[in-house]
Amino acid sequence: MNTSLKSFNTFGIQANAKRITVVESVNELAGAWADAISNKQPAMILGEGSNVLFLSDFDGTVIVNRIKGIEVTEQDDAWLLHIGAGENWHQLVEKTLQRGIPGLENLALIPGCAGSAPIQNIGAYGVEIKQVCQYVDCIDLNSGQALRLDSEQCQFGYRESIFKRADYKHYAIVAVGLRLTKAWQPVLTYGSLTQLDPKTVSAQKIFDCVCEMRRSKLPDPKVNGNAGSFFKNPVIATEQAQALFAHYSNVPHYLQPDGQVKLAAGWLIDQCQLKGYRMGGAAVHRQQALVIINEDNASSEDIVALAHYIRQQVGNKFNVWLEPEVRFIGTNQEVNALEAIA
Ligand code: FAD
Ligand code: EPU
Repeated sequence: MNTSLKSFNTFGIQANAKRITVVESVNELAGAWADAISNKQPAMILGEGSNVLFLSDFDGTVIVNRIKGIEVTEQDDAWLLHIGAGENWHQLVEKTLQRGIPGLENLALIPGCAGSAPIQNIGAYGVEIKQVCQYVDCIDLNSGQALRLDSEQCQFGYRESIFKRADYKHYAIVAVGLRLTKAWQPVLTYGSLTQLDPKTVSAQKIFDCVCEMRRSKLPDPKVNGNAGSFFKNPVIATEQAQALFAHYSNVPHYLQPDGQVKLAAGWLIDQCQLKGYRMGGAAVHRQQALVIINEDNASSEDIVALAHYIRQQVGNKFNVWLEPEVRFIGTNQEVNALEAIA
C-alpha cells in the first residue's frame, strides 16, 4: 500500500502516513474517519494539499477527499451551483465559463479543491469566495450529523473562516453552494485588470488576463514545489501604518473598511533583499518573494528555518511580524504554524 504523501502535497515534501484513503462519497469519508477513530489512530482530511506543510510523518490516516459532482440550477436572476467538495477548483472555474456562467474568473488557477475554498476564504485579484458562497455543507464527524452553514455562519474574513477554528476541526466539508448572479459586473480593481475596459470586457478575457498574471509570477508546483503565499499579508493599525509610511512612502498597501491597513508582505520581504535566498533545499521565489519554493529536495526543516529567517528579517527591519498562511501538520494533528516558525 502506498503511504507516501509526496504526491499529495504541492510542496512535494516526502512524508509518510500510516494510511492514505481516497474517498468519493460522504459515506466513505465518514466510514474512513470512524475506522481511524475505532483503531485509536489520528485522522485528517486532505484536499489537494496545496496549503499544507507536513512537518513529519503522519501517524494515522489521511483521508483524501474526492467527492465529485456539479449541479447547476438556473433561476431568473442567478445560477445556483451545488459542488462536491472534491471537485478541482480551477476546473470548476473553467466549466462555469464554458457554460456561459460568469463570476469566478478572478479566482482562476487557484489550486485545490472546491471544498477547501471556503476554509481560508480563497481570494485573488479583488474577489473572495465569500462574495459568491451561499452555503457550506458539512458533517460533524463525531456525531455523524449533517449541517448546512450559510455564508454569515461561515464567518468569512481575510484568509479566515469558522472552519479554521479548533472547535470546527472535526467538521468535514462535503459540498459548497455558490450563487452566481446574472447581473454580472466585472471586477477590474487589481493589477493589469485595471487596464481593461469595463464596458466591453468579457469574463473570458478576465480569466485569460488573471491566468497570464499568475503564470508570470507564481511558480508551478509541478516544477518547483510550493504552497502559494507562505505568509498572510499583515493587517496593521492605522497609527503603526502612518509611522511606517513616514519612513517608507512607497509601501504597497490597501485600506481596510475598519480603518486598518493591509501591507504587501511580498514587498516587505523583497525589501530585505531576500529574493532567491536559500536555506538547504528551500528558497525564496525570485519572481514573488511571498512564496517559498522547494528548489532542491527541501525538507520541512529547511522550509521552517527559512520561514523563521524571513520573519525575523522583516520584523527587525519594519517591526511587522508575519504570520504563516500555510497550515502545518505534525505527527498527530495540525500544529500552530506561528509557534513553529517564531
Ligand atoms: P489542502 O491543502 O488539502 O487543505 C488545507 C486545509 O484544509 C488542511 O488543514 C486540511 O486538513 C483542511 N481540509 C481540506 N479539505 C477539507 C474538508 N473537505 N473538510 C475539512 N477540512 C478540510 N490561496 C488563495 O486564497 N488565493 C490564491 O491566489 C492562491 N494561490 C495559490 C497558488 C499556488 C501556486 C498554490 C500552491 C496555492 C495557492 N493558494 C491560494 C492556496 C491554496 O490554493 C488554497 O488554500 C486552497 O483552497 C487549498 O485547497 P486544497 O484542497 O489544496 O487544501
Ligand atoms: N511585491 C513586491 N515584491 C515581491 C512580491 C510582491 O514588491 O516579491 C509587491 C507587488 O509589486 C505588489 C504587491 O507587492 O505591489 C502585491 O503583490 P501581488 O499582487 O503579487 O500579491 P500578493 O499580495 O503578494 C496576494 C495573495 C495571493 C493572490 C494575489 C492576487 C495573500 C497572502 N496573497 O498576494 O494569494 O493570488 O494577492 O490577488 O493574500 C495565496 O494566498 O496563496 C496567494 C497566492
